[in-house]
Amino acid sequence: MDQIEIEIKEMDALYFDKEYAIYHPSNNEILQKDIHEFQHFKNVIACFYNYTNDMKIELQRIKTHFQVLKPEQRNNLLMNYEERIKKFDYCIKKNAHFCFLIVAAYVDMFPEMDLSQVTYLSDLPYFPHAQHGDISKLRITLKQFYRDWSLQGQAERDQSYKLIIDCLQQFYPDARIKNVKYQVLLPGAGLGRLVFELASRGFAAQGNEFSYFMLLSSHFIINLTQKKNQYELYPFANNFCNRLCENDQFEQVKVPDVVPADILTENDEMSFVAGEFIIVYHQPKYFNFWDSIITCFFIDTANNVLEYIDAIYDILKTKGCWINFGPLEYHFANQFSETSIELSYEDLKHYIQQKGFEIKCEQMQESTYNHSKLDQKYLIYNCIFFMAIKK
Ligand SMILES: C[S@@+](CC[C@H](N)C(=O)[O-])C[C@H]1O[C@@H](n2cnc3c(N)ncnc32)[C@H](O)[C@@H]1O
Repeated sequence: MDQIEIEIKEMDALYFDKEYAIYHPSNNEILQKDIHEFQHFKNVIACFYNYTNDMKIELQRIKTHFQVLKPEQRNNLLMNYEERIKKFDYCIKKNAHFCFLIVAAYVDMFPEMDLSQVTYLSDLPYFPHAQHGDISKLRITLKQFYRDWSLQGQAERDQSYKLIIDCLQQFYPDARIKNVKYQVLLPGAGLGRLVFELASRGFAAQGNEFSYFMLLSSHFIINLTQKKNQYELYPFANNFCNRLCENDQFEQVKVPDVVPADILTENDEMSFVAGEFIIVYHQPKYFNFWDSIITCFFIDTANNVLEYIDAIYDILKTKGCWINFGPLEYHFANQFSETSIELSYEDLKHYIQQKGFEIKCEQMQESTYNHSKLDQKYLIYNCIFFMAIKK
């Protein structure tokens, strides 16, 4: 596969009405905040477009270093290293195509870039809008497709999602048969697999996310794929270290392993809301609203985890259940510019009980996160699982 031809589509303002208004400045009330938000959104889109060029730099690094080898070292390499580089090249082209498809509809946002002559993906110019560090977020997003939407990810999903699903179904055994839907909220929903799993089991499931990487990607995989295994991806291609076999880094995954549209019926309810959890939901209109709140690898994303617990308490119905699964790897720990309240589970549990929850089904469960079995290096979290009932 040498060249991938690309199709640039019309912009789709699906998610971003407010930012779209910036193109039509009839709205005088556009706030500075919206402009920053719009800029940030644009940065994220640019990052998807830049995948090819970012990886070309990586490819060049590998090739250049290979030249350093003495001829006999090169020739005596047991494996054909040049072949490995070719495979890497192939994988990043496939990944680049996938990244491009996710954001293909947003190209109108860059009137300053001349794309009129671009036919092939490899000819895309570098979009200077992306922020330093965003490429690593994009790489994580590709791994998240492995976790949520590939067959290989099933083993990891079973470690966490299965426990949650079973617990919720036991708590609400009539979810499928009842006329009234149980309202379930999943803040920090990532690529939405658990939201879909719950919706397909009769719950009115709503995912919430604030990352544009996740929002764009989940929209693509949930709403825009037509068939099972439609896309091939190589989420671990750029990890050259910790490999037992040459081919391990080129582990192929096909996504999606299920097509939500084929499974969900008209009666099922599944939705996604963009925005920061506390800002969107900790307000009176949601007080005592949710039958259940599911936090999976989420509570440690807070600056102050107690704010999350307060919000969960207020918006959950009395006798509703909060199900939590995950570690306490506080995301803002060691960032001096950010507040970070790093409580132990012991402290958290005390706060949760004092707040007015009864903790049930508490257990520890080992789980990996975005981990390929072919990687020599991996991290196992000893995750906290519990159900807390609002008294
Ligand atoms: C570690 S990931 C877990 C994703 C998913 N629950 C899973 O188990 O795969 C945490 C997610 O929460 C999102 N997130 C973090 N803080 C958030 C906030 N305050 N509001 C909404 N989403 C948030 C992040 O963007 C990220 O996708």
